[in-house]
Amino acid sequence: MPRLDERSIASPREPPAGFDPKEAFAGVHWHQSWEVFRGVVTPGLNSVQQLCGRVRLPVDLTGRRVLDIGAWNGGYSFECERRGAAEVVAYSLENPDVTGFNRLKALLGSRVRYVQGSVYTLSPEQVGEFDLILFFGVLYHLRYPLLAIDRIRCVSRGEVLIETHTLTSRHLLRGLFWPLGALSGLAAIFRGTPLWRQYKEYELHAEDQSNWFGPNIKAVIESFETAGFSVQHLGSWDWGARSAFRAVAVPVPSRMRDGTYEGLSTLNAQLTGIQRADADLFRRDGT
Ligand SMILES: C[S@@+](CC[C@H](N)C(=O)[O-])C[C@H]1O[C@@H](n2cnc3c(N)ncnc32)[C@H](O)[C@@H]1O
Repeated sequence: MPRLDERSIASPREPPAGFDPKEAFAGVHWHQSWEVFRGVVTPGLNSVQQLCGRVRLPVDLTGRRVLDIGAWNGGYSFECERRGAAEVVAYSLENPDVTGFNRLKALLGSRVRYVQGSVYTLSPEQVGEFDLILFFGVLYHLRYPLLAIDRIRCVSRGEVLIETHTLTSRHLLRGLFWPLGALSGLAAIFRGTPLWRQYKEYELHAEDQSNWFGPNIKAVIESFETAGFSVQHLGSWDWGARSAFRAVAVPVPSRMRDGTYEGLSTLNAQLTGIQRADADLFRRDGT
């Protein structure tokens, strides 16, 4: 069998003649640093290439339908297209004219489709189902994280790669008590217990009040498991404050169908208006 030339799939093209990066990137807040053309990188602080390695994004995505939730500048969406994905949907809250997404799309002549929307309203009727979903840097920004994970399950027919802030012993206790949490013995005690820590305003980040909850590694795993995924922890960095996971869609546990007030087959589903997702979950479970 001929060997796949991985580099030719994932390599950026040469910049077009007369291309001026200063002009092309001006006036946008670039969060991501992504190689648009060979040697031409968007001036963000967060390396797309590095995170692709950490989440083990396959080099060859030929034929796969991909959803990038929280796409922002679009670096991961365009990277998936470059790696051969059959179709990529970038899904995010922002206006793509403001985030530079549309600018990159035009530069690349890309076919990536941008859908402006919230993870809470994802549905197969709206966007279809996906072989691969990217969920990078979003989970801890959510006020309703478990609802988001249920919604992701509704549109997943394959795997979800997750990157998120994860709770460490440094974040465990508030105020003057935080050094107590940093004691290594305490961290070990909590490792086997799923915890979601709520953050108040600027508590997690001095210049960013958009953070709501920090899950520890066990909480990420068990939260995705309750929604119908089998989950693997791929690794952590920044002293455990960031982590990557791979979740594979499996039949939805019976606890989600009945036996709890939040079970999606109950009256609660009608009251919250998420019964369409519920029907979809049943179908996949074969019941
Ligand atoms: C820190 S940025 C991460 C951007 C990108 N995924 C990355 O890793 O570079 C957070 C992203 O989460 C998105 N986000 C936050 N809440 C969301 C929601 N309810 N639905 C969809 N996206 C959301 C924002 O729109 C923003 O694009």
